Amino acid sequence: MGEMLVTGGAGFIGSNFVRMALAHTDDRIVVVDKLTYAGNRANLAGLEQGLEHGREQGPKQGRVEFVRGDIADAELMDRLVASADTVVHFAAESHNDNSLRDPGAFVHTNVVGTYALLEAVRAHGARLHHISTDEVFGDLPLGTDERFTESTPYNPSSPYSATKAGSDHLVRAWVRSFGINATISNCSNNYGPYQHVEKFIPRQITNILTGRPAKLYGSGAQVRDWIHVDDHNSAVLAILEHGTPGETYNIGADQAAVSNKEVVELICELTGGTYEHVADRPGHDLRYAMDASKLRRELGWRPRYTDLREGLAQTVAWYREHVRWWEGVKDGVEKQYAQSGQ
Ligand code: NAD
Ligand code: DAU
Repeated sequence: MGEMLVTGGAGFIGSNFVRMALAHTDDRIVVVDKLTYAGNRANLAGLEQGLEHGREQGPKQGRVEFVRGDIADAELMDRLVASADTVVHFAAESHNDNSLRDPGAFVHTNVVGTYALLEAVRAHGARLHHISTDEVFGDLPLGTDERFTESTPYNPSSPYSATKAGSDHLVRAWVRSFGINATISNCSNNYGPYQHVEKFIPRQITNILTGRPAKLYGSGAQVRDWIHVDDHNSAVLAILEHGTPGETYNIGADQAAVSNKEVVELICELTGGTYEHVADRPGHDLRYAMDASKLRRELGWRPRYTDLREGLAQTVAWYREHVRWWEGVKDGVEKQYAQSGQ
């Protein structure tokens, strides 16, 4: 049994990853998370102290340990990485709109935090997988079939994507200059349970569930390449198990044919809601589309969720069934959006 350190494991993708990793590996998992507004210990409810399969599961008890801390804390990273065999790095400031209001937090966590982690990995020789985004490549024109590949030049648009691009470059430099054992994945837009209500899909679902209209930025012609969070995480597990050190893998589920307007219309259809157009995001990226053929070809990975309507229906059901998980933060998020006319 090894030890896996998961940074940002109390966030959306990280907490879903911890749940999946418990089912697929025998590793003990240490989660390190600062618990910013986006981190929620309730996302790990039942997983800590051996509760993942109920109190009676003797052999699996104590497999998840939670440590509250900042990844930019070099001393803490050194201590935690020292006992880890594998590090899976999800921790980040993740929301583009916030990066337009307060870029400093993004530089701190995404760049300085990744640097502190890399130095600890260099010192102790753990295997690192760095989680990144398709946004590092910039955007593609609407109405074409172009896709991002692993060799598309970096061209980030927002402070968020620029800091993620910076973190990718740091990882690559530490691989080449210091020989650390690391892989990188760049994934498209995730959706699914435990996603913060600031993000597009949960915002619209919870708007409608609270009697508000869904809110579409600008014309809604922009296109995102939606992937279910479990498909992202199964790809990460495949890379951890079979990926080649030093390599980058694109992750996407071939869903880049749906505009934001079409996604909102689908959500309205599933919930009986309505939508309105609101102020556009400054510098709004037009289209993302991932070519994930390397991952499919080399690692045999396949997505499980290939029908967006079905994935969205499951997600709507989750938000209906977990009102207590999101209702406490909903009004605050909407108040903040209202300040930018969104
Ligand atoms: P999230 O905002 O839901 O979670 C981020 C987590 O990181 C939170 O638990 C937060 O408390 C923690 N965190 C933030 N700053 C920290 C710090 N300084 N030290 C320790 N913990 C800190 O984000 P998410 O959507 O789950 O994204 C996770 C990762 O996946 C990020 O690296 C993001 O760039 C990447 N990613 C996200 C998507 C997406 O669609 N959401 C797609 C591709 C890649
Ligand atoms: O592409 C991967 C990226 O996807 C990740 O790296 C980011 O962490 C993640 O937040 C996401 O970034 P986006 O900016 O694409 O996601 P967001 O959910 O904020 O918005 C998705 C699209 O929907 C985008 O075109 C903006 C639009 N939008 C968003 C919100 C919140 C709306 O039309 N209305 C909204 O209310």
